[in-house]
Amino acid sequence: MGKKKAEMTELEAAAEMADLARQIAHHDRLYHQKDAPEITDAAYDALRARYRVLLDKFPHLKPVDDPESRVGAAPAAGFSKVAHAVPMLSLANAFSDEDVAEFVTRIRRFLQLPDNAEIAFVAEPKIDGLSCSLRYERGILTVAATRGDGAVGENITANVMTIADVPKKLRAPFPDILEIRGEIYMNRDDFFALNEQREKEDEPPFANPRNAAAGSVRQLDAAVTASRPLRFFAYALGEVRGDIPDTQTALRRAIGQWGFQLNEPSRLCVSINEIIGFYHDIEAKRHVLPFDIDGVVYKIDRFDWQERLGFVSRSPRWAIAHKFAAEQAETKLKAITIQVGRTGALTPVAELEPVTVGGVVVSRATLHNEDEIARKDIRVGDIVRIQRAGDVIPQVVAVDLKQRPAHSEKFAFPDHCPECGSLAPREEGMAIRRCTGGLICPAQAVERLRHFTSRLAFNIEGLGEQRVRELWMDKLIHSPADIFMLHRHRDALAARDGWGDKSADKLLAAIDARREIPFDRFIYALGIRQVGEATAKLLARHYHDLPRWRQAMGAAIVPDSPARQELQSIDQIGPLMADDIAAFFAEPHNMEVIDALEKALTVKPYERREAGQDAPLAGKTIVFTGTLTMMSRAEAKARAESLGANVAGSVSAKTDLVVAGADAGSKETKARALGVAVIDEQGWRALIGE
Ligand code: IVH
Repeated sequence: MGKKKAEMTELEAAAEMADLARQIAHHDRLYHQKDAPEITDAAYDALRARYRVLLDKFPHLKPVDDPESRVGAAPAAGFSKVAHAVPMLSLANAFSDEDVAEFVTRIRRFLQLPDNAEIAFVAEPKIDGLSCSLRYERGILTVAATRGDGAVGENITANVMTIADVPKKLRAPFPDILEIRGEIYMNRDDFFALNEQREKEDEPPFANPRNAAAGSVRQLDAAVTASRPLRFFAYALGEVRGDIPDTQTALRRAIGQWGFQLNEPSRLCVSINEIIGFYHDIEAKRHVLPFDIDGVVYKIDRFDWQERLGFVSRSPRWAIAHKFAAEQAETKLKAITIQVGRTGALTPVAELEPVTVGGVVVSRATLHNEDEIARKDIRVGDIVRIQRAGDVIPQVVAVDLKQRPAHSEKFAFPDHCPECGSLAPREEGMAIRRCTGGLICPAQAVERLRHFTSRLAFNIEGLGEQRVRELWMDKLIHSPADIFMLHRHRDALAARDGWGDKSADKLLAAIDARREIPFDRFIYALGIRQVGEATAKLLARHYHDLPRWRQAMGAAIVPDSPARQELQSIDQIGPLMADDIAAFFAEPHNMEVIDALEKALTVKPYERREAGQDAPLAGKTIVFTGTLTMMSRAEAKARAESLGANVAGSVSAKTDLVVAGADAGSKETKARALGVAVIDEQGWRALIGE
């Protein structure tokens, strides 16, 4: 972690805070919108804690994107928005008994209660799912919404209607308007079964039950949600018009009577000792519970006290989440193997003596990269401590040096690819070694072909990992275009072990069905480093069709060329991503692949699905700058895109319009110098009909 705060200058603090705010926003987005976190909850909490320390010491340096004033992430495009009548907040965390004692002391001070006054708390398990608000009007479920950024969430009513635990009609008596808040989650067994099924169908598995639940809810097709084993428990209220109970205990009773499931076990506790006792009971029992929990929530029982205590920034003063430490276990490291991914990255994997961690048998763990192994001095034969923090992939946290066998040797990370023997150098400043074998490397070739046929790319049924590998080994497919030549080998396919005429014809028909492909899928299928589904869409939207894109990327190979600058000016495409895209186009092999594909396929130009050509901002390039007060930047951007605009990150002669919020700086100046139209927030709102 960073320097001690006393030694820090304001300049350093401001820089670190801005950096932390940026990192936190990045991880929030991965967690809340993509359901694909990159770091553990503990690492995330550490970022937040460090930020908090700095903010306490330097409150005047609060950055504009202060994470404390924001809960979660702004809603993703695709669902309509729901404004929450009562904001949906988050909970502060306690990590130790002292933190809990402080929480109680703070409450006592705030309510000016004497030391001996009894305060009752309801303690209940904290499930790591995704929070949801259910609105009932006269007892009928009318709207279900995600938390979103706390003020505005996504409308997920159609999807929530498919969850059996959610009553569509309440049991009387009930208030006229009743918003129930709770958690959508998945049981552990259901989660494992779902992942097993996904692997069979060649879909990537979910990292943990939370991601599985969130990914299932955030489906544009409710039929997919219906097929997922989702559950719901209710724990709090939003807007209510009508009589409500006056304690959390009474609310829990009412919640059960209305027809909801409650998160059990719970207990009413009147002292810190009782609270801590309950916490340890639950911690010991957590593997017996059918769902994963990551802590215990304590809430003041009396609602009048809850009301007086109110909120501080993103969380209530009357409740706290007491988190469990990540679960750990010790076991022997039998071997370190190296996996080679689609992009050639060499990833070390710990092969372990199987051990149970958090109720799950673990026999492999990630070792991240070469530096990580060296830093922790992890050696084959060591007894290692591993940790599972709600995730499927456990990590090695430390080595027990006392138990290290004599004559053990430092691990020598290979500098050649274990799959194809090509050199695997480290890129400058990077921790990762990458195989240079490209398409001659079986790991990369098969992985790339597999990526090419996967669901979000060409989506060719019947070309999963196993078959791609077999066909590659037998030299039937070598590069992606070969897939579209397979009809020439029809008889050879039919003659394969376990195939027959039917399988061969079925596969060829599935391939023929993909001879026409939307441009964005085509880009995604190429497997360019860092170019995922979202970036592929951005590129397709910006360049419209394959010939234009190819020409522009050919020119963008030259650093600092106007074409490279245009690529980098696309919102969300930075210089590093532009480097990777340019590097792809600089490699002649890749151009041969595109040439061959162009001959075999029709790549359909990008169609704006969101808006027709007559949409008010169709085809216009807009840049947002400065602070908007009435809507978040993310929302403004989503609105602009839904009206047909391209949103860019920097101003150039090609910009049609700049929306300048408060404190806009150089971008506004540049726009005015270039004669680009500039409007303020009010003008923007008028333009979009707000
Ligand atoms: S009460 C004002 N109770 O944890 C906030 N939340 O980390 C009221 N959660 O946003 C929330 N179990 O999504 C509450 N028993 C429980 C919970 C719970 C899980 C979630 C909830 C909240 C998040 C905070």
